[in-house]
Order: sequence, then structure tokens, then C-alpha cells
Amino acid sequence: MKIKNLKLKNFRNYENLDIKFDKSLNIFIGDNAQGKSNILESIVVLALTKSYLNVKDKNLIRNGALFSNISAKVVFDNSVDDLFISFNEKEKKVKINNNLIKKYSDYISKVRFILFSPLDINLIRESPSSRRKVFNVEISQLSNRYVKLMQNYNAVLKKRNQFLKKVISVGKCDSFYLGIINEKFSILAVDITMERYNFVNSINNRLSDIYREITGDCGLTFKYNSSIDICDNQVSMRNLFLNRLKDNFEKDKLYGMTLIGPHRDDYSLFLGDSDLSIYGSQGQNRVAILSLKLSEIFMFKEKTGDYPILLLDDIFSELDITKRNRLVKYILSDVQTIITTTDLNMLDKSLIERAKIFKISNGNVVIDDGKEG
Ligand SMILES: Nc1ncnc2c1ncn2[C@@H]1O[C@H](COP(=O)(O)OP(=O)(O)OP(=O)(O)O)[C@@H](O)[C@H]1O
Ligand SMILES: [Mg+2]
Repeated sequence: MKIKNLKLKNFRNYENLDIKFDKSLNIFIGDNAQGKSNILESIVVLALTKSYLNVKDKNLIRNGALFSNISAKVVFDNSVDDLFISFNEKEKKVKINNNLIKKYSDYISKVRFILFSPLDINLIRESPSSRRKVFNVEISQLSNRYVKLMQNYNAVLKKRNQFLKKVISVGKCDSFYLGIINEKFSILAVDITMERYNFVNSINNRLSDIYREITGDCGLTFKYNSSIDICDNQVSMRNLFLNRLKDNFEKDKLYGMTLIGPHRDDYSLFLGDSDLSIYGSQGQNRVAILSLKLSEIFMFKEKTGDYPILLLDDIFSELDITKRNRLVKYILSDVQTIITTTDLNMLDKSLIERAKIFKISNGNVVIDDGKEG
């Protein structure tokens, strides 16, 4: 898929923006705090209906304005669609070709993107919940089913936790109800585990090769530390997990919450036998995450038939020159790519020659040939 044009109204520091993207490579250059990352964030909002991680909608609205609009024409294999998102502090409207969308779970696997931003660099050292959030977004883009599974799982988890608190306050346990809720919980938990397991495996298909080509080092692997033991038979997985839920019940009751399940899963990156969260240097971690994201580009293409849009937020300045040069071969001409930078000298000449270049200054975008974007 390719974004043809993007219009912003009152989004972050943009009052009105109307730009046309190149179908292959786009570079946004500007000093700090001019609005480069905000452009990428608007594409994230267009794709997910909300910003990444914990940003509130109201912070996306330009200071002093009452609402924000994002619209874009997106070219897919068989169609060209007008996407539109409008929101104020209270409500949000999402439209495709002027038709209002009610179920966001169907919408968010439409515009697929891979984002690599300075925030991702810390991902290896951050909390398990940050990693779960990032990979939840990525799996959701690949699978509507996963979005629905997560919604159902979170609802059942909430009910189970409410039930545990009730057991504490009332002092007795309705074991019939507990049996039903455990059954539901374990079915969803196993389904989510398998989706995550398959996602991690697909990333590993290319991860080690990409990392080796950029760094020369072998043996990078992405690991899924699942709460549920994985085996070939999902019925056995469910039964084993049900038994663990039963064994853990007294502990759950003590804490008033469910202590085991996919909401406690984690992911890690290993170089050989070394866990990068413990032993990785900053540079190693940065390139490990970058390789993971690059591996996802191919995986998205295999799973969906189409490349995602690649958003690279200011990544070149942090890489040494050898790695920067080796990265160039992964900026594929078939993949619509949007790069931001403060300094064009950070980019390889071959990239600059084939890119559409936009200059950003204080929320104004001008194409390099001097015309208004
Ligand atoms: N809701 C908002 N309303 C108005 N301006 C905003 C809003 N949110 C952020 N900004 C402004 O947007 C600018 C930051 O934009 P952005 O993060 O895109 O910068 P950048 O060009 O990526 O900079 P850097 O190179 O430092 O990463 C800041 O000046 C910030 O004050
Ligand atoms: Mg930025």
C-alpha cells in the first residue's frame, strides 16, 4: 500500500497541511522541534485511529483548536480509498470513502506501517508491559482475529479479577462460576499465546540474517517468554493451563488478581546466549530492534501480500557510518518509506537522489524544488 496524499488540520503543530508523497522514498528534513515526528505520528493515528502507546487524543489537537482532522488517499492493490479521521476531546469519527466505520477492529489492519523511532531504542530495556504494547500493535495490524481475541481476553480477565475480589470480600467462592470463567480464560489465553508464538517465529525467519548483514555478528534471536507452555496440541495446552489456574487460585485470591496468563508475557532479544536487556550495548540494542523491524517488513508482505509503509524517525544519526551504509539496501524501492532527519549528510547519496525531499520549518512544509508542499 502507498499513501498518495496526506491532509492535516489542527494536528500537533500543523494548522493546515496538504502534501503528496512519492510512492517510494520520502525524506523530511528539519531542525529539532519543527514537526518531523508529528507527520509520522499522524500516519500512525491514521492507521490505528489513535497514537502509539500512551498519548491522549486531546494532546494531538493543535493547542487552542477544538478538533483535529487527518485525511489521506491510500492506494491498495485493488482499490484507492479515502480515509478520514476526525476527533475532538470527546468523540472520534472514522470514515472510509465517506462511510462511517463503527468497528475499529476491522479498520486497524487496513493501513499497515512499521515504525522505528528513537523511543523503540529503549524497548529492550523497558518494562514487559511496554514490549507487550508495541508487539500487540504489530500483531493487531496483521490479524483482526488477534484484536478481537485481545478485547475478549481483557474483558474476561477483568471479570475474573472482579470475581477474585468478591471472593475475598464475601468470604466464599462460587466454584461453578469460577469453572466457567477459567474455561473461557484458558481458551482465549491459548489462542493469544499461539498468535504471539507464530508472530515471533515469523520474525525469526530473517532476523538473524539481517542483523548479520548490518553488523557482521551472528546469532540474533527474538524470544517469546510465554506464560503458557507451548506444545503441538492446543487442547493439552489448555488443560495444563487450567490446572495451573486451579493450583494458583489461593495465590490469586491473596493478591485479588490473576497472576498468570498472557497479560504477563514478555519478549526478549538474545545475541547467542546473551540476553541483550542485560548485556547489550546501546548500539547493539539499537541495531537489534532495527533488524527486528526490517524483518517485519518481509513478514508483513508474506502474510498480507503487500508491503507495509516504513516510517524511520531520525535513525541514521545514531548509527556509525558502516551500519548506515549497510542499512541502505533495506530501504527497498517497492516499500513506501518516510525518513526524517535533521541532517541530509547522514543519508547515503543514492537515497537522496531517488527521494522526494520535504523541508520542514515550524509546521510549514516545502518541497525541495521550492514549491509549497
Ligand atoms: N498539540 C500541539 N499543539 C501545538 N504544537 C504542538 C502540539 N504537540 C506538539 N507540538 C509541537 O510540535 C513540535 C514538535 O514536533 P516534532 O516532535 O514533530 O519535532 P521534530 O521535528 O521531530 O523534532 P526532533 O528533531 O527534536 O525530533 C514542538 O515544537 C511541539 O511544541
Ligand atoms: Mg522527532
